Amino acid sequence: MSIIVKNLTHIYNEGMPFASKALDDISFEIKDQDFVGLIGHTGSGKSTLIQHLNGILKPHAGKIYINDFDITDPTLNLTDIRKRVGVVFQYPEYQLFEETIEKDIAFGPSNLGLEVEEINSRVKTSMAAVGLDYEAFKDKSPFELSGGQKRRVAIAGVIAMNPEVLILDEPTAGLDPGGRDEIFELIKKLHKEKNMTIILSSHSMDDMAKLAKTLIVMNHGKIEFMGSPREVFNSNISRLKEIGLDIPQVLELTMKLRDKGFDIREDVLTLDEVKEEILRIMRGRKKC
Ligand SMILES: Nc1ncnc2c1ncn2[C@@H]1O[C@H](COP(=O)(O)OP(=O)(O)OP(=O)(O)O)[C@@H](O)[C@H]1O
Ligand SMILES: [Mg+2]
Repeated sequence: MSIIVKNLTHIYNEGMPFASKALDDISFEIKDQDFVGLIGHTGSGKSTLIQHLNGILKPHAGKIYINDFDITDPTLNLTDIRKRVGVVFQYPEYQLFEETIEKDIAFGPSNLGLEVEEINSRVKTSMAAVGLDYEAFKDKSPFELSGGQKRRVAIAGVIAMNPEVLILDEPTAGLDPGGRDEIFELIKKLHKEKNMTIILSSHSMDDMAKLAKTLIVMNHGKIEFMGSPREVFNSNISRLKEIGLDIPQVLELTMKLRDKGFDIREDVLTLDEVKEEILRIMRGRKKC
């Protein structure tokens, strides 16, 4: 599913003394099956943007087209869009409420008015997709689970709607490193195996450099950069720092190595690439 955002503006508390422009005339396009990392400092507008993409928030100006449907058109029935664009909000485990995991995951598909067999089949498939064994977990209370497992249940609930686009707002916030890796692995798998378009906001630059195909960098409600992680990170280090973002650790390392006189290529972004560069330079030095 392609998404086109045109001149989108959102103002909270418009007309009030404390009004704030959270999105300021932003435009971009996301292609079908892309994996988009949304990054930016706290308050830059990531969550506000995410909430526009399935119609939860309405823009003050601008348009959003999803597969040519203008979802800002007030006459459009948003139910169809919400089936196709699934959003996992920040700390989604707070929205778990049913007494069993099975019932919680079945909640969304049940609201679509599907047949019972179809609902059961979707619950099983989405539990398998997030790596939760159906028999072992179906009757457990969501509240018995670890943080990472609860988040898997919440993601399974959205996957059970069979969305073509999966949007996740800081899906690893508050998890320990193990839980964080598990969730990122899961999202990578969903992108690859189910061909879902993924839009993911995160403060983890290292993970975004590894996972995303496209990065959107937000700054005070505007798009500062958009491009591949290599284009965004490798060419704009000082600007990214200026707007309050970390840069991937690999780039910190290459900067330090350059300061020490190592002639590291400008386009390296992964640890393997740095390793190759260091070996190349050392081989060159041995020959001298
Ligand atoms: N419900 C709201 N009412 C008023 N202002 C809001 C509301 N939600 C967000 N804002 C303001 O809008 C701006 C954008 O906030 P948003 O939550 O979209 O940023 P964010 O990039 O998601 O930040 P974070 O990284 O902390 O999640 C901020 O200035 C914020 O204070
Ligand atoms: Mg946010």
